[in-house]
Amino acid sequence: MSADKIEVRVAAIAQVAPLIREFRLEAVDGVLPAFAPGSHVVVEMPAQPRPHRNAYSLLSDPRDPSAYRIAVRKQEQSRGGSLFMHEQVSEGDLLKITPPANLFTPSWYAKRHLLIAGGVGITPFLSFLPELRRRGAEFELHYLYRGSQTGAYSDELAAELGSALQRYDSEQACRCDLGELLARQKPGTHVYICGPQSLIDGVCSTARELGWPEDAVHYEAFAAPAPGNPFRVELARSGRVVEVDSDTTLLEALESAEVDVPNLCRGGVCGQCATRVLEGSIEHRDTYLSADDKARQDCIMPCVSRAADDRLKLDL
Ligand code: FES
Repeated sequence: MSADKIEVRVAAIAQVAPLIREFRLEAVDGVLPAFAPGSHVVVEMPAQPRPHRNAYSLLSDPRDPSAYRIAVRKQEQSRGGSLFMHEQVSEGDLLKITPPANLFTPSWYAKRHLLIAGGVGITPFLSFLPELRRRGAEFELHYLYRGSQTGAYSDELAAELGSALQRYDSEQACRCDLGELLARQKPGTHVYICGPQSLIDGVCSTARELGWPEDAVHYEAFAAPAPGNPFRVELARSGRVVEVDSDTTLLEALESAEVDVPNLCRGGVCGQCATRVLEGSIEHRDTYLSADDKARQDCIMPCVSRAADDRLKLDL
């Protein structure tokens, strides 16, 4: 997280689904920066022995400067961040966040917008919707969730959007036929997906099979990095050695050692944290580098990727 953090107060917390809590964040000083639909912030949580830092989409109306709203799903396999937000954060607490960054902006030249959300992946679309409506854009939203767990905002959206919303509750055996959905879209439509990787993969492969142009398919995933084997990194410029334990990412270990690495998505998507590797082999877990880049074994995305064995030497 860079130096330009913003201090915010947790003004309100609401349980919007059994596994999802919404947090309203207000600036402690001054006003919050403007943001565009699809933006996210990284929230720094004051946990011990090291802070947790997770990226969350802003779900407020981008034209509302009074507060940011985020929603956090309690993860069964939490590495600490989502549990901290659910169990340790109360109204009135102070948190630090990054300024908003955007890796998931709507394409305003699209003729039509097809939005597909899985569970808490509804959140970026909540910031899309006010702007789509203000612009009179043609859109439909397809929302897949588990009714007893993750169907946040489902009834409000149904009341607001009417036939522009289709809901699929997997507990009611209600499934979305992706092939039929994508096949019936008119040319010039762009599709946006936010949700679990399986949903993103399903839509992307269906779109490919149907011949959709690649630049008409947009997606965003904020999957928590999976644990891995512990390893050690040597920092070539300072000669320091940093240990990375099994449920810490390389980026988190570097941050704990006060080594500053630029980052934006913390999910292997944006490429901001790219770091040169001088020695050692890499277990690539990002979706940013191409297969050829990965094969060269000279660059790592420390937010998600790890050493393939017990050591790496980095150009840091
Ligand atoms: S922070 Fe985006 S790829 Fe690492």
